[in-house]
Amino acid sequence: TRVAVMFGGKSVEHEVSVISGIQAIMSMDQEKYEVIPVYLTKKNEMYVGEEIGKIEAYKDIPGLLSKSQRVILVNEDDHIVLMPYPVKLFGKKGIEVDIAFPIVHGTNVEDGALQGYLKTIGIPFVGCDVTASALGMDKYASKVVLKENGVPVLDGYCFTTSDYAEIDSILDKVEKEIGYPAIVKPVDLGSSVGISVARNRSELTNSIDDAFLYARKIIIEHAITKLREINCAVLGDENEAIASECEEPLHTKDILSYEDKYVSNAKGSGSKGMAGVSRKIPAELSPEKRKEVQELAVKSFQKLGCNGVARIDFMIDEENGKLYFNEINTIPGSLAFYLWEPVGISYPELLDRMIRLALK
Ligand code: DAL
Ligand code: MG
Repeated sequence: TRVAVMFGGKSVEHEVSVISGIQAIMSMDQEKYEVIPVYLTKKNEMYVGEEIGKIEAYKDIPGLLSKSQRVILVNEDDHIVLMPYPVKLFGKKGIEVDIAFPIVHGTNVEDGALQGYLKTIGIPFVGCDVTASALGMDKYASKVVLKENGVPVLDGYCFTTSDYAEIDSILDKVEKEIGYPAIVKPVDLGSSVGISVARNRSELTNSIDDAFLYARKIIIEHAITKLREINCAVLGDENEAIASECEEPLHTKDILSYEDKYVSNAKGSGSKGMAGVSRKIPAELSPEKRKEVQELAVKSFQKLGCNGVARIDFMIDEENGKLYFNEINTIPGSLAFYLWEPVGISYPELLDRMIRLALK
């Protein structure tokens, strides 16, 4: 089976995706799958073959360059354009592939955009379909769907650029309905970009200004003061799905920042997997709480119509012990492989199961 692993892309999480993509490429069972790395530039141009060797992140990885050389089949310009031939990724002169495996993070790629493109040109792909990808990327829409289906969420208000024209009405509404501290987030960005906590009206104004720099829609909700984050991944489809081990990401500030996630050095126990994040695996939870997290993770995955692997991020309010769905990552960093190893599923096995789910 020839698998086109697609990574990079026009997203603030480009670099994270390069790491996730390379990890997957290096872990795929070479006997079963022929991997064709497909690099998406920051303009979403696609490259295969030698071009990939020019990516800085590849330089130190032995074997990868030779692997990508094996699949050199580029057109005159070295510039690969996907052509609308079923199961043919690269047009007449191109490489035939059986399936595409998007390992991309963030808007313009993970949000249904790349999935819609692949669907339009008729290439089967691993992971969530267009609808689940789009719902998963929208922090507001996903909560509305899950609340409707009995998953506990922290109520949030969604504001658009037209509301922003009358920012006083947003401020009044937040003060009346939510109170401080309030957390302000762009609805559709990953990796904590544009997220901040406001403790008074002037901070709230700044937070809203900042979030609207990145997005046309924002969500504002009450910020839990004594907060623990617990994440759990799910593997499967709408008919059958299983939950992974739970993790607790560790950080110093109110919000897990982009720096905490990818820039600062990983420290602490069990800090393995997604670049730069310190985490506790397994998370310290009572058996009952662990079960509750896992059941809600599976329910969230299935109600949003996911396929493959997704990571569901929960919050626990330490003051009352309540658990809330916070967000879902339909293509989690490192595909959350480090949450599957503790339950006996190796990374090659995880990749294999994801591909088989897509070919079902
Ligand atoms: N969006 C990043 C990659 C994550 O949370 O997994
Ligand atoms: Mg996230």
